[in-house]
Amino acid sequence: MPGIVIVGAQWGDEGKGKATDWLGDRVDFCVRYSGGNNAGHTVVVGGETFTLHLLPSGILNPGCRCVIGNGVVIDPGVLYEELDGLAARGVHVEHPLVSAAAHIITPYHQTIDKVTERFLGKRRIGTTGRGIGPAYSDKVNRVGVRVQDLLDADLLAAKVAASLENKNQLLVKVFNRRPIEAGPIVEALLAYGERLRPHVVDAARVLNGALDAGEVVLFEGAQAHHLDVDHGTYPYVTSSNPTAGGACTGTGVGPTRIDRVVGIVKAYTTRVGEGPFPTELTDADGATLRARGNEYGATTGRPRRCGWFDPLVVRQAAMVNAFTDIFLTKLDVLTGFERIPVCVGYDVPGLGRVGEWPLTEAQVEAATPVYEDIPGWTEDISGARTFDELPDACRAYVLRLEALCGTRISGVGVGPGREQTIIRHDLL
Ligand code: GDP
Ligand code: IMO
Ligand code: MG
Repeated sequence: MPGIVIVGAQWGDEGKGKATDWLGDRVDFCVRYSGGNNAGHTVVVGGETFTLHLLPSGILNPGCRCVIGNGVVIDPGVLYEELDGLAARGVHVEHPLVSAAAHIITPYHQTIDKVTERFLGKRRIGTTGRGIGPAYSDKVNRVGVRVQDLLDADLLAAKVAASLENKNQLLVKVFNRRPIEAGPIVEALLAYGERLRPHVVDAARVLNGALDAGEVVLFEGAQAHHLDVDHGTYPYVTSSNPTAGGACTGTGVGPTRIDRVVGIVKAYTTRVGEGPFPTELTDADGATLRARGNEYGATTGRPRRCGWFDPLVVRQAAMVNAFTDIFLTKLDVLTGFERIPVCVGYDVPGLGRVGEWPLTEAQVEAATPVYEDIPGWTEDISGARTFDELPDACRAYVLRLEALCGTRISGVGVGPGREQTIIRHDLL
């Protein structure tokens, strides 16, 4: 099973980092294919916590080679902050290979991200402020700066100047800000280019070669299905394609080389930032989920909005991404609830009761969830390592979720640690 894609099935923070790291010692390559340092992937190894934003989560596994694909937007300052940060903690990792075609996030992208959000006011997206949307806009507008441009001083200077031309008009005339100077940005990017130079590759060639040789390649998704610019809750989405198809366009590997698509699914639901969330809880149960699940953003520290499990959300993701397996995370967080409501449909004005993800933005906004109650359990499950060790009620909850999602649940997370995982079906 050499090509495996990991995709968040909800609105992010499902535990993709843990799932990737857990598979990491059995994979040869771990590759990020979309997003940038808007991601925050947490890996807990031997009681030590690592939060990775841009580096693939497989990097903590010696022997796993890491690649940053063309679909990623790279803030080189963040890349080196992460690499140097790990080194300062005594963790020596290999520099990832970086696609020559990946786009660069510059300081002007961050500025535009922030001023745009401020300008939008109530209509803001609640972005991470990392410059993600503006960097992808430049890519699509064909005025982006790519990794390969950092290796050529003249080309880089010309591209940055061209890109800043209309941005400065916008900053000065619309946003009432000072114009941004190209010189210092070019200088800083060239310095990063020198550090990057030995690691810049045709990532498609590297990864296809690895697959040809029978090596295992893990494509680590960032964000999630419902944050996908095409398939998510637009406009409250990120600006890339975290869905499984993005693994192909974001790395240069064809779809016939993907053997498994693993949906990472939290045993309840969370979301950071603005946008619709039908099963959101604003009551004490929501606060309890946040406290027990430590639901605070790994990137921005914002409290995550919390709610009950929503299989309509997950089934939609399972269909579009063709999940072969689900890895269910944070089951332990539900311990102690006497009853656990699970959404079984929505009441939508004008439509009545629906059992599938609605067609339009307005219908999702107006949806009221309908619940069934599943009995809870009180036993501590964080030490369980086999499915049979789980209490009866807990197993019943997992099996009900499996039936509602229509995809087999192959792994279950019962704690943040690498080893706190129950395997029901091996992925490799
Ligand atoms: P990602 O963005 O999908 O990688 O997820 P985050 O790292 O942003 O958020 C998931 C959080 O849940 C992290 O703090 C993880 O350490 C933690 N986590 C992952 N799996 C489990 C689990 O099964 N149980 C518990 N209690 N925590 C988990
Ligand atoms: P991981 O990989 C959760 C959300 C932001 C905002 C929207 C757009 O850790 O699951 P952006 O900065 O991308 O333009 O913000 O997307 N968002 C995430 N939410 N987890 C993430 O990543 C996210 N990355 C972006 O909160 O609502
Ligand atoms: Mg996260």
